[in-house]
Parts: sequence; structure tokens; C-alpha cells
Amino acid sequence: MTKRVCIIGAGPSGLAQLRAFQSARQKGAEIPEIVCYEAQENWGGLWNYTWRTGVDEAGYPCHGSMYRYLWSNGPKEGLEFADYTFDEHFEREIASYPPRAVLFDYIEGRVKKADVRDWIQFNTMVRDVHYDEGTGKFTVTARNTRTDTETVEEFDHVIVASGHFSTPNVPYYPGFESFNGRILHAHDFRDAREFIGKEILILGTSYSAEDIGSQCWKYGCKSVTVAHRTAPMGFKWPDNWQEVPALVKVDGRTAHFKDGTSKEVDAIILCTGYKHHFPFLPDDLRLKTANRLAAADLYKGVVWVHNPKLFYLGMQDQWFTFNMFDAQAWWVRDCIMGRLELPDEETMKADPKAREAAEDALEDDYACIRYQGAYVQELIDETDYPSFDVEAANQAFFEWKKHKKQNIMEFRDHGYVSPMTGKKAPAHHTPWVDALDDSLEAYLQTEKETQDA
Ligand SMILES: Cc1cc2nc3c(=O)[nH]c(=O)nc-3n(C[C@H](O)[C@H](O)[C@H](O)COP(=O)(O)OP(=O)(O)OC[C@H]3O[C@@H](n4cnc5c(N)ncnc54)[C@H](O)[C@@H]3O)c2cc1C
Ligand SMILES: NC(=O)c1ccc[n+]([C@@H]2O[C@H](COP(=O)([O-])OP(=O)(O)OC[C@H]3O[C@@H](n4cnc5c(N)ncnc54)[C@H](OP(=O)(O)O)[C@@H]3O)[C@@H](O)[C@H]2O)c1
Repeated sequence: MTKRVCIIGAGPSGLAQLRAFQSARQKGAEIPEIVCYEAQENWGGLWNYTWRTGVDEAGYPCHGSMYRYLWSNGPKEGLEFADYTFDEHFEREIASYPPRAVLFDYIEGRVKKADVRDWIQFNTMVRDVHYDEGTGKFTVTARNTRTDTETVEEFDHVIVASGHFSTPNVPYYPGFESFNGRILHAHDFRDAREFIGKEILILGTSYSAEDIGSQCWKYGCKSVTVAHRTAPMGFKWPDNWQEVPALVKVDGRTAHFKDGTSKEVDAIILCTGYKHHFPFLPDDLRLKTANRLAAADLYKGVVWVHNPKLFYLGMQDQWFTFNMFDAQAWWVRDCIMGRLELPDEETMKADPKAREAAEDALEDDYACIRYQGAYVQELIDETDYPSFDVEAANQAFFEWKKHKKQNIMEFRDHGYVSPMTGKKAPAHHTPWVDALDDSLEAYLQTEKETQDA
């Protein structure tokens, strides 16, 4: 009997899994029957932009956290697919920090070529997963939100690829309930132009804080104030940008900080991160982990140690993204297809603990990048995923960090060497700070066309 495999989510992780199985089939292997459930009407996960916030069309929490004018925050050379380069997709070299629409196009190009769309059931939200010890199978209940009908199907394996940057972590500070302005989480941020001329307060010091603040600054907010709970970001910010200690309370429109200073603000944007959230999973299958490089309870970062028929993709915090999801997907595929053997339960349980301890011993971001690069290398060494120069990807990340330190508003104007082609990316035709149109068309214009326009 052919095995049946359920994949939950058709974002970059779920699509990597589809491509992994299709690649095996292309090479002549007999593959399991694949069913991928995707809650949205299209693939691409977070890269599939939605203007909606709050709830989606069907009344479920909106998955989208991406906003207009978002450009890649890391170099594309760190996420390039080893089996489908940027050069292959765009038929020419492009710059290193593509906007969202360009990356969506790239993600889509590979899976269109692989012809796997028919494996996906769109507008279908997985509502429940249950494992039966007796039959050794999973029962997956899913609802088609268009037809408002439920299906219940049995699978031998379930792969959770539902992402973990969608359910906002929303802290409370005294006075929020009577703040005379807008309080929103980064998850609901959509267009920086909403804040033109406004004084904004941002909580958090990670990527959302840095990037949403930069967007608001670029599109003309009056000032950016970033309150840090642990440490400031410490970049060389523009004159109308300040970093202040933690927020203590708000009173009317006045925000009060730990050092006794205060500031009148129009809006508070909570860039306070996301929660791993799996409302469709029971306790015995539900991953509970911090957002870190070594996720809890996952052997090799993907196998649920309490029931190794269940897998998770992309649950780690991410320096590496698309090619790490590929490395994981190829590994999971080979595990399901019996090409890789799992060790005994004790060995599996010890593995994430050892990875956590190794992560805890890392000294700085550079060591973290190398650590995740080594993890990617470890997985690809065990499958037929095309090997690539992981060290070149590490180097792109190192250069990126250096360029951010030099000038936070200009780092996206640099180019890096592709680990796949060995070629250095050209500069973009327009500096990031002047590029207000983030469309695919504007990005792919040549310099000449832009000048002529
Ligand atoms: C604002 C923001 C900007 C980012 N920018 C970058 C960047 O510049 N570069 C980079 O490399 N990474 C970036 N990331 C990281 C991002 O997490 C990854 O690039 C990537 O999208 C993760 O892919 P995924 O498939 O694991 O998850 P997602 O992209 O979240 O996809 C998960 C999919 O699962 C579906 N799903 C969820 N629950 C269910 C269910 N119950 N039933 C059916 N389907 C379900 C969702 O609809 C979605 O399509 C960014 C993240 C955020 C939040
Ligand atoms: N352009 C882009 O490509 C782009 C833009 C935005 C986001 N992203 C991606 O989105 C993902 C998530 O990034 P993120 O920045 O949203 O989340 P994150 O990296 O998890 O950071 C969460 C931040 O919130 C702070 N925080 C948490 N609880 C808080 C509280 N109660 N009060 C004050 N601060 C609090 C944390 O501070 P402490 O340090 O004190 O814990 C931390 O600075 C990343 O993968 C990132 O790459 C990409």
C-alpha cells in the first residue's frame, strides 16, 4: 500500500517538501501519495501578501505578517535554492536585497517548474490532527473555507509546515487601555505611509523593530523612538531616531521610560515577536519551543521525538531560510521513504538537548550564523540535495552584518557572492532609500529604463 503523507502549509517550507518529493519522483523513485493543505487561496506563505489584518475572508486569524515595501532583510545569497538559482529564474543577475514581490516570484518559479500545484488543496484549513496508537495512523480534519465543508482523512505521516511568525506576542503595559492613539502589533502593520508626519514609538529591538522603523522613517514619519527591554540596537540612526530604555507606562499620549524620560507619541508599534502556535494539534503532538536555533524536542531539528512519524519544518529562528527549509525537506523525505534510519528514542531525545547546549555556548551572532550553516550542511550531506558552498553563504551574512553596522540605511545597496554561481551580485539601479516603488516591475527595470521613465 502506498504511504499517505499530509503536509500542513504551502509556504516556503511546505513548498520545499513538495519539491523534495517531486525531485525523487523525477529521478525514478516511487513516492508516497502527497496531500498538502493550505489555508490561503495561494501558495507562498508569508510572501503571499495580503492587505487584510485581523481575520481572513473565512473568519480565521489572518496569517499574513508582511507589509508593503518590505525588502529582504538579509542578502538573497543566504537563502538561494541550490537547485534553482536566481540567475536561472530571472535569466540575469539581480541585486542582493529583493523586495517581497521579487522573492515571491522566485519562490513560485521553482514550484511552477516542478509542477506540484495539483498536490495542494487551497482554502483548506487543518482544524485537528489526531494520532491513533492502534492503527498507527493520523486522522486529519480539514475545512474547506470556500465550500464550508469538512474532510477527515487518514495519513501515515504528517509534516507541519505552518510557520511561526503569524501569531503575535502582544505584551500589556499600564495605560495602554487609555492611550489616545493607535496601538498595533507588527503583524498588523501594512503601509508605512499611514505614519507620515507621526511620532512613533516602537517596542522591541529585533528585525521587525529595525525594519518597520526604517520603513516609517523612509516614507516620512516625524520621529522614531525605540524602547529596548534588554539592550539598544546601537546602529547609527538618522537624527530623528532615538533609542530609549524600556517603556514603563503610557499616560494619554505620553510614553514614560525606565530612565524617567518621556515622549509624546501618536502610535505605538509592538515589534515584540511571535508565538509558535498550533491550535490544530493535541498536546501529545504539539511543539512547545522558544524562537531559537535549536528548537525543542526535534531530532535533527525536524523529527518530533515523542512520535517520529510527525515532522516539523522551519521551526527554528532563522538566519538561513529557504535553503535550510530545503535541507530539512529533503531529509524528512528520505526519512519517510526509508532511505534514512532513525536511532532509538533515547538517542533522538538527547539530540535536541545537545544542540541546545551547543547553541547556549555560542558567543555572538557570527557564531550563530556558523552554527546554523553547519546544521544545513549536516542535513544536506545526508541526502541528494545539491551540495553548495555553505561557507560562501556564511560569508554573505558576515558582510551583511558589517554593512549594517557601517550604515543601517544603506546596507541594502551592497552586493554579495552567490554560493551557487560564485558570481557577485550587481548594485541595484536605485539606492534603497530612494526606491519607493517596491513592485517587481520597478525592481527588474534596468538602470537605463529607470532613467528614461
Ligand atoms: C515580516 C516578516 C519578514 C520576513 N522577511 C524575511 C526575509 O526578508 N528573508 C527571509 O529569508 N525570511 C524572512 N522572513 C522569515 C519567514 O519566516 C520565511 O521567509 C518563510 O516565510 C517561512 O516559511 P514557512 O513556510 O515556514 O512559513 P509561512 O511562510 O508562515 O507559511 C506557512 C503556511 O502555512 C499555512 N498554514 C498555517 N496554518 C495552517 C493550517 N492550520 N492549515 C493549512 N494551512 C496552514 C499558512 O497559510 C502559510 O501559507 C520574514 C518573516 C516575517 C514575519
Ligand atoms: N524586511 C524583512 O525581511 C523583515 C522585517 C521584519 C521581520 N522579519 C523577520 O521576522 C521574524 C521575526 O522578527 P521579529 O523582530 O518580529 O521578532 P523577534 O526576532 O522574535 O524579536 C522580538 C523582539 O521583541 C522584544 N520583546 C518581546 N517581548 C517584549 C516585551 N514584553 N516588551 C518589550 N519588548 C519585547 C524582544 O526583546 P528582548 O531582546 O528584550 O527579548 C525582541 O527584541 C524574523 O525572522 C525576521 O527576520 C524580516
